[in-house]
Amino acid sequence: MTQPIAHFNGKLLPLDQISISPLDRGFIFGDGVYEVIPVYNGAPLRAREHFERLQRSMDEIALTNPHTVDEWMKLTAELLRHHKGDQAVYIQVTRGAPDKREHVIPKGLQPTVFMMSNPMTTPSREAIENGVACVTSRDFRWEKCHVKSTSLLGNVLARQISADVGATETILFRDGFLTEASSSNVFAVKNGVVAAPPRDNLILMGITYDLVMQLARDGALKLDVRKVTEAEVRSADEIWLSSSTKEVLAVTTLDGKPVGGGKPGPLFKRMHALYQEHKARLARSTVAA
Ligand code: PDD
Repeated sequence: MTQPIAHFNGKLLPLDQISISPLDRGFIFGDGVYEVIPVYNGAPLRAREHFERLQRSMDEIALTNPHTVDEWMKLTAELLRHHKGDQAVYIQVTRGAPDKREHVIPKGLQPTVFMMSNPMTTPSREAIENGVACVTSRDFRWEKCHVKSTSLLGNVLARQISADVGATETILFRDGFLTEASSSNVFAVKNGVVAAPPRDNLILMGITYDLVMQLARDGALKLDVRKVTEAEVRSADEIWLSSSTKEVLAVTTLDGKPVGGGKPGPLFKRMHALYQEHKARLARSTVAA
């Protein structure tokens, strides 16, 4: 089988020709950061914003960025020459491979850069029209959830709680307040107002979250960014998930109980339409460029 082309430390190579040291701190400690960028028929959505967030993640863990945002954009375009259609570009930068395992961060290490691209499946018509099931859990992750770290064991274990019961996501509460889901941001709608948890260290500041907020403002939806209680989520008229690959999805059952009327609500339908229009504009401007 022909191997997909990936990027490794400055070179484009077939995926199976890339090998990484077992001492790489990404492997040993999960000491690295990453991004996932959605690409619609060759056009990346908000790539610059993703690379700006990558920079913020690196700043948080004192990892020197081997590339400027413009260089990252160029590397992405080079990789995408080998991957057509709707794609999810994955970028990972780890601290690099020292010659021994030691917790203390070694000085002068060369970061390891890895990029790959995989076909992206956007949510099915069924999921858009009927919504998806979610379950809840206590948020047992660490206190630096704003860092898009490859140390994802907390997120993986949280996601598995929903996977085990055939649900789409696990919505998390910390100290009685909504944070996010295992790999998505969460919005709760009540009486026509869209509430979103604040941008703090307890959630990943989603690029899609920002886009949803922008579209809500442009579309004159009422927004309220504030701490949202668990009780509010459980009695919400609508709950939405957002992420680069899920776009925006309605949650129609939570822990087995219907959310609102058990169908995607009117504000979700409006937001979904705004999101699809935004994608269509992106496609038109890319064709024009
Ligand atoms: N996950 N919160 C968490 C914990 C996430 O992992 C993600 C994205 C989001 C949404 O962020 P964005 O809108 O920038 O995609 C929120 C990606 C898609 C992943 O890990 O595959």
